[in-house]
This record gives sequence, C-alpha cells and structure tokens, in this order.
Amino acid sequence: MSTNINPDNLLNLQELEQLANQFFKSGPGGLVNQVPVQQAPEPFLLPGNIGDEGLFSPPQQVNTPIHSIPSSTIGGGGISPSAINQNNAVNLKDPQTSFADPNLSDRSNSSAPVSGSTPTAFGEQLPLQPGFSYDSYLVKTDLIPDLPLKQNFPVEQLSIAPEGLFQLSYQQDQAFDIELKKILSNINTSGPSNALPFTGAPAATEIPFYFLSDKHGLPAVKSDQGKVKQAGISNIISPPFDVNLVRRDFPILQEQVNGKQLIWLDNAATTQKPKQVIDRISYFYEHENSNIHRAAHELAARATDAYEGARKKVQTFLNAGSINEIIFVRGATEAINLVAKSWGEQNLHAGDEIIVSHLEHHANIVPWQQLAAKKGLKIKVIPVDDDGQVLIDEYVKLLGPKTKLVSFTQVSNALGTVTPAAQIVHLAHLAGAKVLVDGAQSVSHMPVDVQALNADWFVFSGHKVFGPTGIGVLYGKEDLLNETQPWQGGGNMIKDVTFEHTQYHDAPGRFEAGTGNIADAVGLGAAIDYVSHLGMPLIAQYEHYLLVYATQLLKEVKGIRLIGTAPDKASVLSFVLDGYKTEEVGAALNQQGIAVRSGHHCAQPILRRFGVESTVRPSLAFYNTCAEIDLLVNALHSLKR
Ligand code: ALA
Repeated sequence: MSTNINPDNLLNLQELEQLANQFFKSGPGGLVNQVPVQQAPEPFLLPGNIGDEGLFSPPQQVNTPIHSIPSSTIGGGGISPSAINQNNAVNLKDPQTSFADPNLSDRSNSSAPVSGSTPTAFGEQLPLQPGFSYDSYLVKTDLIPDLPLKQNFPVEQLSIAPEGLFQLSYQQDQAFDIELKKILSNINTSGPSNALPFTGAPAATEIPFYFLSDKHGLPAVKSDQGKVKQAGISNIISPPFDVNLVRRDFPILQEQVNGKQLIWLDNAATTQKPKQVIDRISYFYEHENSNIHRAAHELAARATDAYEGARKKVQTFLNAGSINEIIFVRGATEAINLVAKSWGEQNLHAGDEIIVSHLEHHANIVPWQQLAAKKGLKIKVIPVDDDGQVLIDEYVKLLGPKTKLVSFTQVSNALGTVTPAAQIVHLAHLAGAKVLVDGAQSVSHMPVDVQALNADWFVFSGHKVFGPTGIGVLYGKEDLLNETQPWQGGGNMIKDVTFEHTQYHDAPGRFEAGTGNIADAVGLGAAIDYVSHLGMPLIAQYEHYLLVYATQLLKEVKGIRLIGTAPDKASVLSFVLDGYKTEEVGAALNQQGIAVRSGHHCAQPILRRFGVESTVRPSLAFYNTCAEIDLLVNALHSLKR
C-alpha cells in the first residue's frame, strides 16, 4: 500500500472503509472488473475537452506518465475480490485486501465473480449514491501538484490506490467527461427502472413503451394515464449507462484468448451479441418455430407475430414512416444488390451517371460497376481530403442532369469518417437524383432517422448492430418500393399466380420471396430493443468519449500513422506502424487477446488514396472500456520497444 502520501490529506481508516463500502454498495452488485494498473511508458495526454458544440479541443500535456483509468478497470479502486464480503462490503483491515496486480499481461481475474445478484443492463438497477459514480482516475501522486485541476480535488474524495497512485473519484472530471456527465445528469436515476429483462416472447403487436422513439431517437415514456408521450432528453426514464453492467450481458467478452481475457476491438467487422439476443433466438426455436404468413395453426401465428414484431421494431428504430418500408434481407450487401438489380436495372440507361464516394465499401462499388458495365452507365467518385472527409465542393461539381443515383456511406468502415449525409442527400435531390445511404457502420453508433435524412433507401446489417448474421434491412420509401419490380420471384411475394400472369404484393412482401431468415429477424428485433433501451444518444456519447481517449493515446505511439483523422468520426481507428506489416501488428495484438482487423477492410480504393494497401483497424463499441484501450496502446508501445 502506498506510503508516500501526505497523511494530513488522508481520511482515517474508519472513514475510508465507510467510503469504500458506500462506493461498492452504489455499484451494480458491488465489485466490478479488476484490470491491472500500470504506467504508460510515454508522456500521456490528459483527455481533451469536448465543448458545448461537441468540438474537441486540444488536450493538456503533462510531462510525466499519468495513467487514467475508469473504475471499470480497477474493481472499485483495485481492491481484490477476496476483500469483498457477501454484502459487497470492503474490509480494509482484511489482510487479503490488496490492489490490482500491476502486471499488464495478467488480466485473468478481470471478470471476478461477484457475490449476490448479477444484474444485467436490463436487470436490477441500484441507485447511485450522491457524490459517487463508477468511474475514477488513477494518477501518480508525485504529479498531483502539477495537475491543473489539483486545487479542485477535495481531500475527502481521495482514497488510497496502488503504490504511488492516488485514486481520484470521477467527480474530478477531466474536461472531456463533463459532456458525458451532463447527459447522465439528465437521466432520472431514482425513478422506476424501465429495465425489462427478456422473459419470453413479446406479442408482435404489444410494443413496450420504452423503445418507441420520437424522431430524435429518444424513447417515449408513459404518462400517468398510460398514454405514450414522447420523451425529451430531460425526461428519459432510463438507467444510467454503466459499461460494467452492459458487459455482463455479453458472455463472449469473458472468453480467454491466448491466456488473456478477450478484448474485442473488431466491431466494425461484426459486433458481439448480448444474452438477450441469444436467448431470444433460442426461445424462437424452442417455442415459436414455424414458417410465417402461411398457416392457421398456433405456431405459425407465433412465428408470424414475432417476425412482424421485429419489422415494427426496425421501423421504430429508423423512424421510418411505415412498416411497409422495411424489407428484411441478408445484410447491407444484399440490400444494395437488391436496389441495383431491381430499381437500377429498370430505371438506369446508357449514359446515366452514378455518384459514389471515395470512402465506399466494396459492397457499394461492385454492384454499381456490374450494372454500369451491363448498361453503359458512368460512375463518378466524390474525392476526400487528407483527413478522409468528403469534399462537398467537388461533389457539387459532379452533380448534373445525368446524375440518376448517389450512393454513399454514412460512416466509413475503413476510416471511421462520418459523412455529412443529410447535406449529400439534399444536394442529390436538388439534382433530381435518387439516394441510397449505406448505414452498415452508422446504425450501431448513432441515432438514425430516415425521415430526417430523407434518403430514398437506407441499408444496414443486423450483425453490425449486436444482432445475428444473415439478417439485414433495406429501408425504402414506400411509393418508390411499390413502383419497383421485384428482383426475385417465388412464394410469399405474390398475390395471385396463373401460368399466364403473376400479381405481386406491395412492399415489403414484394421483395421477400421464399422463406426468409425468420429467427434471425426476431433476433435483430431483440438487438434493437437492447440498444434502444440503452439509448442511442447515450451510446453515441460514450463511444465518442472512447474514441477521443483512444485517439489521444494512439498518437503517442512511436512510428504510428493514423489513417482517417476527420473531425467527425465514429468507432474506427485505422493506422499503420512504421517497421511492421499490418498483419504482424494484428498477430502481436492477438497474442495479448486483443482482436483487431488487419487488412484492406473491403475498401481498397480509400486505403490506396492514402498510399497504403492495408491498415490495422481497432473499432469500438459501447461495451469497450478505456482500460481495454490502455492495454491496446501498451501492447503497441511494447511492440515498438
Ligand atoms: N464490412 C466489414 C468490415 O469492415 C466486414 O470489416
């Protein structure tokens, strides 16, 4: 235990114990993950400031290493699980009380079992104690006099941390936490929990109030009379976002890889699935499985209700105007191919022009190229600047009377750039073109409102938003869908068939020939419930916090070159490391249990724009933590050493 602390600044043991117990009681079931604490080898940048307008201002540099770790990493101050009694109380006199092992490579205890209840993000929610939250910071004691915020640290909020470190409560915000806390403070943590653990199959028509969203993606709340009213940010009734609670919902995050606890930073490739999604799919196969829309028996009704209920959830999630605008497909790739091979086949002619951006995934290039080759179309490309943001002035120059379609991504999978989607859509419409927005990388990171965006089509994949693989969504404006001839024929999509003639259903059935992926559509509905319950605005805010944190730390790695530095980014950190092939970096990280993608990310044109064939690409989700980023960055520092 640390001894080089001014005793005048310390609470006595009794007060400290009281404080610690209060802290642990405030936590979700008490002790949370215990992750080793160690010093960053390079000068560490204090996280910067996110201003009122969401602008990131430069961080403050300090000269000596400081390691800043949220409490998710330290088991409530790094106290060992053995020091926690059945009531999650800490006995500081217990000889077993110790702080987290500073050995970076050993995090095998990081998911130490917690006694008592094991709430999930959908489960039991314990109230926060005033003055306490789950996050805290560790700083070297000898740095404290140099910290600009030092004078604001009330002594009673300091507690003992591992050797030479103070644990500073989250109360002493780094500037960039203030924005996050502002949002959290707007959430009623003392109100009734709207947490709804998965308890069986909801009827398709029975839509729990908490995931009805207004057009800003905010949940609605029930008034006293039971009527649903739309929520403003200030009257959301929702538990606060607690990453530790959330992580318990994802069993795979406890996997061991190469003797280390898995750190999943390959979320742009696919996301992990919460228990609620896994259970929902199991429930479907155990209690509801049947083909849909076809029979009068009970299971057909259950399966149809579950499937159509999922469609309703997607409609609400995207704020589509009608449930008929939601078509289930295999994924974003199939959705784009559907538009190319139906609307594109029928409406584009030789000489017509399609505009895509330089950022596109191959799935938003190849189908248009195939169509262009077949029909004599021209493809034009919106260039990007050196940060990886699209150049709107150049885009405007590409638009003209021949432009029939603009198809672009809302978030780049390779760089993380968030494009000015609404502006691109608006300009395309002014030119008389239709617009497709690829939302594969956006829906899991930010609220999406297709009516506000006003795109003609919007596509996404279920597996990128914590749902199953093999299911995705094509949103299309209803009239446009009904004017478009189907691309596949078969059962389910017809009203009437004779050998001479077939009459098709309107959308969505029109585009869902054959037996679809019923169970996974239902699983996608559960994933949407899950993220809607957490709240997309809060997810976006938390991930922004992580991205800012990770960017600052990665910049400090010697020989690193970040590819994609646009001010507006989501989730993705692409880089190359001097002296190493990207696959070597990926393999070295894998040795530490850290999963990132190394390669071209199915987006070769944009990587070549930056003079590289591949990058290393950590990509974040809301279940990632600053501690995981610390471990990633330290693994890279070690590699360079
Ligand atoms: N499109 C996925 C990615 O970016 C597979 O990794």
